[in-house]
Amino acid sequence: DLSPIDKAKFAASRRAVDLVQDGMKVGLGTGSTAAWMVRCLAERVREEGLRLTCVATSTRTAELARSLGLTIVTLDEAKWLDLTIDGADEADGALNLIKGGGAALLQEKIVATASDRMVVIADAAKEVRALGAFPLPVEVIPFGWSATARLIEEHLAAQDVLGHDIRLRMAGDQPLRTDENNVILDLHLKRIGNPRALSLMLNQIAGVVENGLFIDICDTLVLGHPDGKVETVE
Ligand code: A5P
Repeated sequence: DLSPIDKAKFAASRRAVDLVQDGMKVGLGTGSTAAWMVRCLAERVREEGLRLTCVATSTRTAELARSLGLTIVTLDEAKWLDLTIDGADEADGALNLIKGGGAALLQEKIVATASDRMVVIADAAKEVRALGAFPLPVEVIPFGWSATARLIEEHLAAQDVLGHDIRLRMAGDQPLRTDENNVILDLHLKRIGNPRALSLMLNQIAGVVENGLFIDICDTLVLGHPDGKVETVE
């Protein structure tokens, strides 16, 4: 039996995979919601014999998708994608997102921006008025990461962002390494007043590879509820 939150994730996933059509090139997101979507998609492929080419946003997702019989190629082989379906940690009313809770934000952003359409699936609790209660993940080169963190802190102070606590993400007693072998800084900001300005500011700091703000990338938000109801925001 599924928990209420899994029912919500499943409902959103089921609805989103209906958008996939035979012959499409599809980007597969990362995280627990995206894992539901991969299972739903694999079921459609089995039952309807859809021919799909898929690109994964992490080694985790690639392994799951392959184990369920989906065809995974690299983004360079696919060149571009019709549709990417991914989860998010937060989404606001303008369809801007925070992603990277699962540490896959870099590949997720590359795949999403190489797609004609990005559809985000989430349980309805992830829709927020303003982004920032969820700590913002920033992918940083390991070399000199603490100097990079200090620069981020100075820039945040200059932008009057209050309560900025920056933490290096750990995996046990070691810094977590991403699929690209970088580290993640989690920025505890509480509320992000201007996501676009913050994203631009972060990405111009030396050592920052990418940040988890997805601005003007998501086209459709599919929100699931525990009772199986689904809302779509476009
Ligand atoms: C992975 O890096 C993230 O961007 C995920 O999409 C996000 O953390 C959502 O994960 P869940 O679906 O597990 O909440």
